[in-house]
Amino acid sequence: MGPFEFYNPTKLIFGKGKLSSLKTEVPNYGQKVLLVYGGGSIKRSGLYEQVMSLLDEIGVEVIELSGVEPNPRLSTVHKGVELCREHNIDLILAVGGGSVLDCSKAIAVGAKYEGDMWDFVERKAVPQAALPLGTVLTMAATGSEMNGGSVITNEMTKEKLGWGSILANPAFSILDPTHTFSLPKDQTVYGMVDIMSHVLEHYFHLDTNTPIQDGFCETILRSVIETAPKLIEDLENFELRETIMYCGTMALNGMINMGLRGDWATHNIEHAVSAVYDIPHGGGLAILFPNWMKHNIDVDVARFKRLAINVFGIDPAGKSDKEIGLEGIQALRDFWTSIGAPSTLGDYNIDGSNIELMVDKTMRFGPFGNFRKLQREDVISIYKMSL
Ligand code: NZQ
Ligand code: ZN
Repeated sequence: MGPFEFYNPTKLIFGKGKLSSLKTEVPNYGQKVLLVYGGGSIKRSGLYEQVMSLLDEIGVEVIELSGVEPNPRLSTVHKGVELCREHNIDLILAVGGGSVLDCSKAIAVGAKYEGDMWDFVERKAVPQAALPLGTVLTMAATGSEMNGGSVITNEMTKEKLGWGSILANPAFSILDPTHTFSLPKDQTVYGMVDIMSHVLEHYFHLDTNTPIQDGFCETILRSVIETAPKLIEDLENFELRETIMYCGTMALNGMINMGLRGDWATHNIEHAVSAVYDIPHGGGLAILFPNWMKHNIDVDVARFKRLAINVFGIDPAGKSDKEIGLEGIQALRDFWTSIGAPSTLGDYNIDGSNIELMVDKTMRFGPFGNFRKLQREDVISIYKMSL
C-alpha cells in the first residue's frame, strides 16, 4: 500500500430512532437552519413532519429549499446560496438521498465564496470555508453522508462533474434504515449497484500488499450480493435495509481504501451519460461497469480471477485465469440483471448518436483512470460495447 493520511470529520449517528439526535446536534451550530430536500418523497413518507416537529421543539428558525433534482443542478445550488446569504443561515440540514446531500455541500461552500461555486468544480478555485452541514439520509447509495464529495450538473453546459473538499464533509449524519423503507424497488436497486461500483472502483488498483483493503471490499460485495435479492422482495425489512445502509457508508467513507489508489474511470464515463441523458447514476453504472472490466481484464488478470473466486464463487477447475476472470464479469452482469438493473444503453433508449459528445465530456481533464489510463479510443470502445 502507499503512504496515507486518514481523517474523516463526520459524526455518524446510526440506527433506529436516531432522528431525535437532531435535538442535540442542531443547536451546536446556531439558530437558523436551511432545510434542503428533494421532490417530495420526504413529505409522502412523513419524515418531513418528524424533522419539522423536532426542529420546532428546539425553537430554531427554518428556511426551506425544496425540489432538489436527482442529478442536482447548479441553478438549484445558486438558489440555496442566495437563501443562505439572505437569511444568514447557520446550518444546512439536508434530508434526502445523495442528490440532496451533494447539492447541500455545494451550497455550503458556495455560501462562503464570493464567486460562483462552479469555480470549485472546474478546479479554478479551492474552497476555503463552508457552512456546517447536517444530513438525514433517505437512500443508501452514494456514501455522500460521510465524505466530502459532491457531483453537480451544470444544466447550461450539460456537464456533470464531481468535486470534493474535506470542508464539505457533513458535520453529522443521521442514518436510520427505516427512513429508506419508502424507497421504491428501482431506486433501491440503483443504490445497491452504486454501492458495489464504489467498492469495485477501489478494488481495481495497482497497489501491492493490500490484503485488508481487498478483504474489506470483498466482504461488502458479498454482503450486497447476499442481501439484495431478499431486499427487493421485502422493502420494509429493517435488517436488510440496515445492512445495505451500512455497506453504502463504508463503501465510500475512506475506511476500506486507505493506502490504495482506486480507478474511478467508470464513474467518469457514467457521469457523462447522465449529464447528457439525465439517467439514474446507478442505472448507468450497471450498464457500463462490466464493459469497463472486459475492456481492461488484461491489465491484471489475477485481480479479476480473485474477484471471480472470492466474490462470485466461480469454480476455477480446468480454466485459464482469463476464463475465470471473464466468468466473474459475467456473474456480475447476471447478478445485476437478476435484481432488475439495466444492461444496455438501449434500455434507456440511448443510441450511439451522442458518443462523441459524451467522450468529449469524459476527456475534459485528459486521459483518466488509475488502473489503466483511458484514452479517447478506449472510452469510445466502452460506450460501443454498452449500446
Ligand atoms: O427527490 P425525492 O422526492 O426525495 O426522491 C428521490 C429521487 O427521486 C428518491 N428518494 C430518495 N430517498 C427516498 C426516495 N423516494 C422514496 N423514499 C425515500 N426514502 O430517489 C430518487 C433518487 O434520489 P437521489 O438522491 O438522486 O439518488 P442517489 O442517492 O443515488 O444520488 C445520486 C446522485 O449522487 C451522485 C450521482 O452522480 C447522482 O447525481 N453521486 C454522489 C457521490 C458522492 N457524493 O460521493 C458519489 C456517487 O458515485 C455519485 O456519483
Ligand atoms: Zn457512484
